[in-house]
Amino acid sequence: MHISSSSRPSSIPRRWFAGVVLSALSTVALAQAAKPHVVVLATGGTIAGAGASAVHSATYAAAKVPVDKLLAGLPELARLARVSGEQVFQIASESFTNEHLLQLGRRVAALSRQADVDGIVITHGTDTLEETAYFLNLTVHTRKPIVLVGSMRPGTALSADGALNLYDAVSVAASQDAAGKGVLVTMNDEIQSGRDVSKTINIKTEAFKSQWGALGMVVEGRNYWFRAPVKRHTMQSEFNIDDIQALPAVDIVYGYGHMNTTAIEAYGQAGVRALIHAGTGNGSVAAQAVGALRALRAQGVQVIRAARVPDGFVVRNAEQPDDQYDWVVAHDLRPQKARILAMVALTKTQDSQELQRIFWEY
Ligand code: DGL
Repeated sequence: MHISSSSRPSSIPRRWFAGVVLSALSTVALAQAAKPHVVVLATGGTIAGAGASAVHSATYAAAKVPVDKLLAGLPELARLARVSGEQVFQIASESFTNEHLLQLGRRVAALSRQADVDGIVITHGTDTLEETAYFLNLTVHTRKPIVLVGSMRPGTALSADGALNLYDAVSVAASQDAAGKGVLVTMNDEIQSGRDVSKTINIKTEAFKSQWGALGMVVEGRNYWFRAPVKRHTMQSEFNIDDIQALPAVDIVYGYGHMNTTAIEAYGQAGVRALIHAGTGNGSVAAQAVGALRALRAQGVQVIRAARVPDGFVVRNAEQPDDQYDWVVAHDLRPQKARILAMVALTKTQDSQELQRIFWEY
């Protein structure tokens, strides 16, 4: 290292001055080395998006900016942690497949087992972020913070939200008080449960909500907790990514007036292992669709009653005689989350009563 004569007062001997500077630098280096190590796994989405101009906050291309550029654009992260990045995918999240979920889950699990990794952040498109978060919540056995984050505006837009969302995510992932709370999602200063959160608005930065409320908030690098998850997750889960080679076919049909059975029958012929019925109201099923669903059940397909209504939960044996039909209810899970749980559960059991227990507990 060169110490210029201009930076050294003439009254101070050069060697002494060099020693002082070097010890100061080594103090800074030691302080940085003592910080938690957070790995950022990048998968694409708007947080890596780019628009044609600063006023294009909704019209842009997702999944363009690589992880090293995302991190280089946020030097403030060094205040929080030692941060390293990996580009796992570079896709818009509506294009996630089960294979993406399994590949990402295996990488997260492997990193979580490394002693030199203290927390993991996953940058992700917001469209299916909630599904990935729930999948990891069910299958990765670690107490270390795993935090998913996205953005509603590309980094090129006026008042882009990605930078602060990413800063918050790294802050939470580097926090000891975030350990053991299951997979988390930080968006818009809130810390949400990966199980409960959903994208509820598609055109605002305040897009993610949990019907039972956020777990807390993160403000200027500090977490404020107000509740903790009660459903089984991560270390308490009976499911483990290490034991899952493939995910079974589970699909969703939507209930509505003038409902027909075309989709139900088509999914049956396609060989689904379970069908999520996103019914009206409290998971209601149109009279003309009950027979087709019962026929699926008779073929060994699990029928799971969810609701198209975003909040609340489906009551067993209320709108349909679930005991008599041997159907399962999805509890408070939205259809897209019920599909994730059904896929994971079916890797372990084909028993509908066991499935129903799993839907109560996770
Ligand atoms: N294509 C959407 C996705 O990757 C963009 C939405 C976003 O990331 O905010 O999920």
